[in-house]
Amino acid sequence: MATEQQTTDASAGKGVSGETDTLTVTDNRTGKTYELPITDGTIRGLDLRQIKVKDDEFGMMSYDPAFTNTASCRSSITYIDGDAGILEHRGYSIETLCENSSFLEVAYLLIWGELPTKPQLERWTYDITHHTYVHEDLKHLFEGFRYDAHPMGMLLSGVGALSTFYPDAKQINDPEERYMAAVRLIAKIPTLAAYSYRHNMGFPYVYPDNDLSYAENFLSMVFKKTEPKHVPKAELTKALDVLFILHADHEQNCSTNAVRGVGSSDVDPYSAVAAGVAALYGPLHGGANEAVLRMLRRIDTVDNIPDFLARVKDREEKLMGFGHRVYKNYDPRARIIQGYLDPIFEATEYNPLVEIARELEKQALEDEYFTSRKLYPNVDFYSGIIYEAMGIPTDMFTVIFAIPRTAGWVAQWMEMKEDPEQKIARPRQIYTGSRERDYVQMADREGPEKIVGPPARRPKRPRRGA
Ligand code: CMC
Repeated sequence: MATEQQTTDASAGKGVSGETDTLTVTDNRTGKTYELPITDGTIRGLDLRQIKVKDDEFGMMSYDPAFTNTASCRSSITYIDGDAGILEHRGYSIETLCENSSFLEVAYLLIWGELPTKPQLERWTYDITHHTYVHEDLKHLFEGFRYDAHPMGMLLSGVGALSTFYPDAKQINDPEERYMAAVRLIAKIPTLAAYSYRHNMGFPYVYPDNDLSYAENFLSMVFKKTEPKHVPKAELTKALDVLFILHADHEQNCSTNAVRGVGSSDVDPYSAVAAGVAALYGPLHGGANEAVLRMLRRIDTVDNIPDFLARVKDREEKLMGFGHRVYKNYDPRARIIQGYLDPIFEATEYNPLVEIARELEKQALEDEYFTSRKLYPNVDFYSGIIYEAMGIPTDMFTVIFAIPRTAGWVAQWMEMKEDPEQKIARPRQIYTGSRERDYVQMADREGPEKIVGPPARRPKRPRRGA
């Protein structure tokens, strides 16, 4: 621990280089100097606490809304170099994994830390394949949703409900329960995802088919009609499996942070992963691929692109599928997806939106507004076009993102649970409100006549249901 005006413990200050790295801070309010250890390029937030003007003060905190410059954990799962456009899982580049591995192999790698041997992968695949069924009561839960319920809302409820079917998962320190939760989550999320689609379509739910691969089985549960067996085209399965790999984990993004934050309360992993699904639902996160397709449809023709980009620059619109908190270069996942566009169109119907997307990308990357802000296409820019070519409706895109990301959430949840430094997540705040006010009785209260409610000019939308 750093101490005021003295050199810190040398061992606490060892940096990656093995040298003693410290940061000297002078508080100009008091003239006092503090030396804070630097480890792995960071200082400990708690080391700031010793900086105070008076002894009875709380001490200094750092203010970092949205955690833009705060590391919340140590992790060995995913490495991103946003400036160089590099993504690695457990040290393997995303390009290598997409070329050589299946999604289930990558899920194993993320969770257990090493690529599986043949028998390990066989066992993992067997366990996942044999836990794809969900309890019939869960099916009834889905039947209770309105016909037009958003599938992501249904998925969110379904994952949360899983916790009630597996109450033993509350024993989060039991390795067997952890293993079973990992297997069940990865196995059942495609089933719940497919149920949400079938519910929207008014089609009967399709049970999992154990003869099929993970991606094949999902497509079968989505598209099977009257045929006794549905085996999707190999091009679609391959592209979907690669898309699953590309979405499997992305270090401390919004939904992973939600899983870790909620999981830090020691809640069961199903409930923690449900928090991740909720976070992913948002249009700034997993909902972006859906928003991209809606944007491309609104743009309608390539001739409208300059007008659209002008509106983006006037901040009337956002260029969805562009920009990233971490990547300040081309998102490597977007590059890999682009390689699958042509093979997919050979196996499916051509999606003319791809022309608008390609031209939009070209014009944006020639525009100083986007280049100066380092805004490049992210994973969501082209993924929706592939899903649409596969015949998957726009509402389902984020649901499909949630399927592989479950592996990442589980891996991150497990890592958190094994990290002795982690505690219940509980950030601080800077309080900006009033203090110690005198209570005013109702009869004596005065104030603006305005009744708080929705703005009067808000257009009235028909309300759903009763
Ligand atoms: N369109 C237009 N301008 C943008 C965009 C965009 N998509 N993204 C960022 N900017 C501008 C932003 O207005 C700001 O400009 P200025 O400095 O003049 O105010 C500047 O670029 C920096 O942006 P920021 O909002 O500080 O960046 P952030 O790190 O807070 O936000 C982001 C990252 C992904 C939320 C944002 O880029 C965005 O909203 N993109 C569109 C939504 C999207 O595609 N999300 C998917 C992300 S990838 C999948 C995932 O991991 O979930």
